[in-house]
Amino acid sequence: MIELKHFSSFFIANWKLNGSFDFIDNFINNLSTGKSTKNCITLCVPYVYLSYVSGRRTTFNIGAQDCSIFESGAYTGEISAKMLRELEIDFCIIGHSERRQYFNETNEIVKQKAIKLIENSIVPIICIGESLNDKEKGNTHEVLGNQIENSIPEISNELNTIIAYEPIWAIGTGLTPSIEEIDVSHKFIRNLTSKYNNYKIVYGGSVNAKNSKLISEIEGVNGSLIGGCSLKIEEFNQIIS
Ligand code: PGA
Repeated sequence: MIELKHFSSFFIANWKLNGSFDFIDNFINNLSTGKSTKNCITLCVPYVYLSYVSGRRTTFNIGAQDCSIFESGAYTGEISAKMLRELEIDFCIIGHSERRQYFNETNEIVKQKAIKLIENSIVPIICIGESLNDKEKGNTHEVLGNQIENSIPEISNELNTIIAYEPIWAIGTGLTPSIEEIDVSHKFIRNLTSKYNNYKIVYGGSVNAKNSKLISEIEGVNGSLIGGCSLKIEEFNQIIS
């Protein structure tokens, strides 16, 4: 498993359902190698491109965007953590709000996926975050606490799991919480129990070249999960510089 403690910042590109061979060639040809070896740059690409991106790997790492709760068997269309391991990928996003919302993924499913990934030496990036409704009702901490308690397995620890805090209302909207709100939420997660004190916790939701510096300077923020702006190579390069 990749050694998370070697890195101080994580920049995780979530391409979602985007990409093509031409897009990948252009992206990797122009990807800045980053200034610091302390930065962990990871491209989470659609399954079908994992192998191709792996063949073009330079200083970046590779991640998937989901995996099955099953290891093998009659589960048409599924991809197991064990199969992902064969591609020597290091990370896998799970529990993204789009999967929770459109594919009915529950905390329990997310937890099972996390276990499979860790058993196969892949770091799960476990996404949590409140909806606008939760926020407006003042339920953010209750929702985050519930997601953490029920989707992070016992075998998770700061060496094998990353938490991504992604307020749902900030994803793809251009809206972001204030710096103070991000700080408060990260502190809440980190201090929920002593188990989480030393976790790598990244922020996601409308991160761009303009706001990334301020966000990454927040003490408890260990990097970012970037969707839309990870598809624009110039902007992504600015974020990781
Ligand atoms: P966004 O997406 O950067 O486009 O808001 C983030 C994510 O969904 O992980």
